[in-house]
Amino acid sequence: MNTLKMRYLRFALLLVFLAGLLVILAFFLIGEDEKPILINNTPVPPFPTLSPVRVAEGAGLYAQQCASCHGENLQGAPDWKKPLPDGSLPPPPHDGSGHTWHHPDSLLIDIIANGGDRSYNSKMPAFSGRLFEDEIASILDYIKSRWGKDEREFQWWITYTQDRS
Ligand code: HEC
Repeated sequence: MNTLKMRYLRFALLLVFLAGLLVILAFFLIGEDEKPILINNTPVPPFPTLSPVRVAEGAGLYAQQCASCHGENLQGAPDWKKPLPDGSLPPPPHDGSGHTWHHPDSLLIDIIANGGDRSYNSKMPAFSGRLFEDEIASILDYIKSRWGKDEREFQWWITYTQDRS
């Protein structure tokens, strides 16, 4: 092989190498967070990142307004699955061990603003007179910040498919 051919070959190899590097880099840069979430064959965009400022504001409001019943650490009442003698349910946890993450944003906002279902004798108070919509939203952001990836994915998926359809 003459030197010119060798040079072309080296150049081509360098290009292949660089292209490979780009693919690997793109893979890491795009990463998990950019992949659509697929549940029941319905893809939705990746869940949005929470703003630390709103999460902090929500944590403060949660401590003032919700912690006395739902627990300082979102742990809910002990034995929360067992109905009380009056037929009502004790406050459930808001962390991943509860069922808050099973519900779309619209339902959670409705329960917080208007209170629990009175026909079940629910003891969840209505907060619409005490909290602004934006404050309810930041409390929800705080609650979401305490979930694992699976709970966040599911709740974002159900919010996206139910609230936007
Ligand atoms: C006086 C006690 C009390 C306070 C204070 C309270 N809750 Fe509740 N909450 C309850 C009870 C009891 C339930 C269960 C009601 C039911 O299922 O009937 C409940 C249920 C809920 C639910 C539905 C639960 C789910 O997982 O499906 C949400 C959401 C909720 N509360 C959010 C809040 C937020 C946010 C605050 C603070 C702004 C708050 N609660 C303050 C007692 C309380």
